Amino acid sequence: MQSFIELGCVGNRSCSVLCQRMLKVVWAALLLMANVCVQRVQANESQEAKGAPKLGHVSVVIVGATGDLAKKYLWQGFFHLYANQVSSGYTFSFYGGGLSPKDKAAPILFEALKRVSCPRDLSEERCALVKEQFLKLAEYRQLKTVEDYQALGKHLSEHPKGEGIAEAGRLFYLSVPAFAYADVAEKINASCRPAEGVWLRVVLEKPFGHDFSSAQLLSAQLASSLRDEEMYRIDHYLGKQVVSKILPFRRENSKHLDPIWNKHHIERVEIVLKETLDAKGRIPFYDQYGVIRDVIQNHLTEVLTLLTMGLPANLSDAKEVLKNKLKIFSALEHLESHCAVIGQYKSYNEEVEQELNKTKGHYSLTPTFAGIMVYINMAQYEGMPIILTSGKMLDERLGYARILFKNDIFCVQKHDSVHCKPKQIIFYFGHGALQYPAILVSKNLFKPDLMDTEWKEVTEQKDINVLGMPISNYYILTPMVQREAYAELISQIFQGRKDSFISAENLLASWGFWTPLLHSLAKAPPRIYPGGVENGNMLDFKLLGRKVTFANDALVFINQDFTGGSGGQSFQVMQGKYRNNDMVSAWSEELIVRLADDLQAAAEKAVRESGRFHLALSGGSSPLALFQRLAQHQYTFPWRDTHVWMVDERCVPLTELDSNFRTVHDHLLQHVKMPYFNIHPMPVQMNQRLCVEEDGGALLYEREISQLVNGSRFHFVLLGVGHDGHTASLFPGSKLEAHGNSLVALTESPAKPHQRMSLTLRAINRAQKVAILTMGKSKHELITQLSRVKDKPNSWPVTGIHPTSGTLVWYIDYDALLG
Ligand SMILES: *[C@@H]1O[C@H](CO)[C@@H](O)[C@H](O)[C@H]1NC(C)=O
Ligand SMILES: *[C@@H]1O[C@H](CO)[C@@H](O)[C@H](O)[C@H]1NC(C)=O
Ligand SMILES: *[C@@H]1O[C@H](CO)[C@@H](O)[C@H](O)[C@H]1NC(C)=O
Ligand SMILES: *[C@@H]1O[C@H](CO)[C@@H](O)[C@H](O)[C@H]1NC(C)=O
Ligand SMILES: *[C@@H]1O[C@H](CO)[C@@H](O)[C@H](O)[C@H]1NC(C)=O
Repeated sequence: MQSFIELGCVGNRSCSVLCQRMLKVVWAALLLMANVCVQRVQANESQEAKGAPKLGHVSVVIVGATGDLAKKYLWQGFFHLYANQVSSGYTFSFYGGGLSPKDKAAPILFEALKRVSCPRDLSEERCALVKEQFLKLAEYRQLKTVEDYQALGKHLSEHPKGEGIAEAGRLFYLSVPAFAYADVAEKINASCRPAEGVWLRVVLEKPFGHDFSSAQLLSAQLASSLRDEEMYRIDHYLGKQVVSKILPFRRENSKHLDPIWNKHHIERVEIVLKETLDAKGRIPFYDQYGVIRDVIQNHLTEVLTLLTMGLPANLSDAKEVLKNKLKIFSALEHLESHCAVIGQYKSYNEEVEQELNKTKGHYSLTPTFAGIMVYINMAQYEGMPIILTSGKMLDERLGYARILFKNDIFCVQKHDSVHCKPKQIIFYFGHGALQYPAILVSKNLFKPDLMDTEWKEVTEQKDINVLGMPISNYYILTPMVQREAYAELISQIFQGRKDSFISAENLLASWGFWTPLLHSLAKAPPRIYPGGVENGNMLDFKLLGRKVTFANDALVFINQDFTGGSGGQSFQVMQGKYRNNDMVSAWSEELIVRLADDLQAAAEKAVRESGRFHLALSGGSSPLALFQRLAQHQYTFPWRDTHVWMVDERCVPLTELDSNFRTVHDHLLQHVKMPYFNIHPMPVQMNQRLCVEEDGGALLYEREISQLVNGSRFHFVLLGVGHDGHTASLFPGSKLEAHGNSLVALTESPAKPHQRMSLTLRAINRAQKVAILTMGKSKHELITQLSRVKDKPNSWPVTGIHPTSGTLVWYIDYDALLG
């Protein structure tokens, strides 16, 4: 940084004020300084004149030089680089490249160049001079064909030679659509690669792919032309001053933060980027991406890793930073569609119709708003929600990350005293009420250390509210000088610093995390919102266990076509008979509510009568909704006295995603409080192998049942039924008689070698209540067929279910019943 001495002597106004004050204070000092100043001026000028230490020549090429990004940020950023380096000993030339011929594009380029503004610390005079030099060093080049790149490559080598300067490096900034990256990179490698010892840096802008596999493909394509250390993938968020301060802040304040930076003290973390703009004019791009790909997968996810990663010993060591980031990525819990809410502003679809020339009645499902809850599976953060949210057409433009701490003080009186207030740290990226980037720390938390001369504490402030709290409740830190993210990153690229750029591994890890959610949301209808302040609180969402839902049901504008016109507005539950047993039928949601209520009634009765409730659950997809519903009965259901058994299990380790136990665990058991001893997974894995007859797993489970369950009679058995008529893991064609008197057996599904462990018909038929749950249109054919077949357990195992002294109830939703 420049000292005020250098600043002061170019003749700007702040200098004279400063000097005058000095004048009054100490004459002697002034004289001394004036002396120094004069010497400096001379030194500077003579240095420029002689071109003092020659560090070499740097060529900067912006490909896509007249595009929006280049016009708005890049030329400005490179001008700042030039202004800061002008007497550093490096010399520069700048090339704006594009597809258009020179006579057309050059005037546009120079219009853009003329608009660049000087860094604040440069005087007007000096600015004009530097700008004039900069304009002289820039030229437009058409970059379209292989020959164009060959000519450029030749020029880049010859130009410095002609001036008698050695070449130091070449910087290419690709400000072109992502589909052109591979092609341009190949041309750079073929024709513009510099001689040995001269660096090559190629800068790329998002989007880096559309999902995991496209990102992987793009990475592989680029890797054939460029080495990883030559590529600088920009996430401009990482150039924002507050974002790049997150790690240093955590380090500088570690004595305060270390004890509280964990799930015990943090209530939740919120990472938020709100926009007021729409996507108009960008629809051809936006409609393929949507808000998650556009800003959440990259900007907000990067902030998440900076907030949660282990602090590297050396904050600017790119390798260490990456290693710690990857640890977070590998600990992020898998996201399912119920971890997110999505919305779309009302006029979006019209914009799509116009810009993509679609006919009326085309419905885009692209979300322009998303709220997502993420968990990190690490002892430090387990169970601590991290909310990522962003949207277009919201009420204000604002970006921040807030760490909200638990407050364990109970205030009896004086509720406005500081220790009764929420405790939080806000990394305020910019815009919004505050208008400047800042880090805010609640005064009841700690006074942050300020160990950095580039930041200062804000003491005088207007009386405004930040996120609902008066600003006087915070200690506020802000940068001395505000700097544009692009200028910051361009300066880092020039210095060859890579810690604020996205490596290929980082990128793929992030896509690996987001892609499954993106796929599971692909067909989900977004909530339509009007935009701006009119949104009111219709986009507010709430956290229910591991689920996120909109907080407000009122006022939903769902497009008719999204609901498929099913018109299922009847809330009636119908009772009837099916295969001579009781049947309950309703639309799926009501059916689940009813089954969960019946289950709870059975549980309460059993606990009243015998002190415990033995429940056997099936895996598969149909009971998921039921599990989620039961998880909501977490306080009323007698979970403490409930034993959970498995009806059947796949021969995979219990930690695998397709393990039935894992499903029951993830959707139900982890949300309710019950003793570990009451949970009885099937012992499919013994002696480090899976489902081997000799290991006696089935027998072991049978013994456990006989010992704990009175008369081996479960109180409640929940079953599903497959398209082939299988139930539990009893498949057609397997010899059910062979199970004899066993309660548990190893069975085989037709798709061998997938073996299973299953309760036998005998075990199921001893139960006091059996429920068979069947839902969805795809089961309609089966339900019709089953209503006609006689009992033939060997070809239709489900027809073998006849509780000997209990009851069987079929729960069938209207879709399955009526088709
Ligand atoms: C000396 O050069 C630096 C770097 O370009 C510039 O910022 C500063 O204003 C110059 N000082 C004078 C006295 O010209
Ligand atoms: C660049 O091009 C050369 C041949 O011109 C090729 O051998 C090399 O593999 C390419 N890629 C890299 C990363 O150098
Ligand atoms: C930290 O890492 C940077 C980049 O690798 C390196 O230049 C610097 O010397 C390191 N600092 C320390 C204290 O090791
Ligand atoms: C829009 O589509 C119609 C019919 O598909 C076509 O005739 C028309 O030329 C298109 N307009 C534009 C601007 O692409
Ligand atoms: C076990 O079941 C039998 C009848 O099936 C019943 O008489 C007895 O009370 C039960 N025992 C317990 C401890 O619930």
